Amino acid sequence: MPVETLRDWIPVALSANLPPATVTPAHTPSGILALWRSASGKLTALADRCPHRGMRLSYGFVRGEALSCIYHGWSYGQTGQCLRIPAHPELTPPGAIKAASHVTEERNGVIWVALDEPKAAAPELEGFKPLRSITLNVDAKLITATGEARIQLAGVDVLLLIVGISDSETVAHVLIDAAASEVDCIAVSRAAEGWRRECEQLGLKELAS
Ligand code: FES
Repeated sequence: MPVETLRDWIPVALSANLPPATVTPAHTPSGILALWRSASGKLTALADRCPHRGMRLSYGFVRGEALSCIYHGWSYGQTGQCLRIPAHPELTPPGAIKAASHVTEERNGVIWVALDEPKAAAPELEGFKPLRSITLNVDAKLITATGEARIQLAGVDVLLLIVGISDSETVAHVLIDAAASEVDCIAVSRAAEGWRRECEQLGLKELAS
């Protein structure tokens, strides 16, 4: 996977963790986005700040094809445009009431977001299938400089998509050899916990040195 492609696209979640009609906070190096999937399955990433009074949209809820803010219930569509203001049901919300939106792509069970205009399509990651996502209390720079790492866990080939969130927090999306059995998946999932602990201990040693 070319490093340039990884710079264009940030892996933010695994498809299996975002069923229809749900919203989740998506961590990127530039902050959190409200990542949501409509009832019909459409994917959207919006700035995690309601244009009304700044409540986090990732705390909101999805009804049909819109994301509603938990505070006063203003709802937003796939472009980020405000669609409805419950306190003024007759009003068509002005076009200026809009949350910033970002391009998303979903490939092989991984959800990607482009913070700027992407120069290429999101990576295909052929030969791997998604397993789980892990949050580590460690600086991503201690794990990889390129945004990905290929290792073996429990004797199985694993691809890690790494996203640095802060100096002390990293998200790793774990993908496993596409041919891995269910037993392998369970073993790798457990081994990934051990890998997380090793990384965090390494991080503590770095801090102490
Ligand atoms: S802060 Fe979101 S609707 Fe008021």
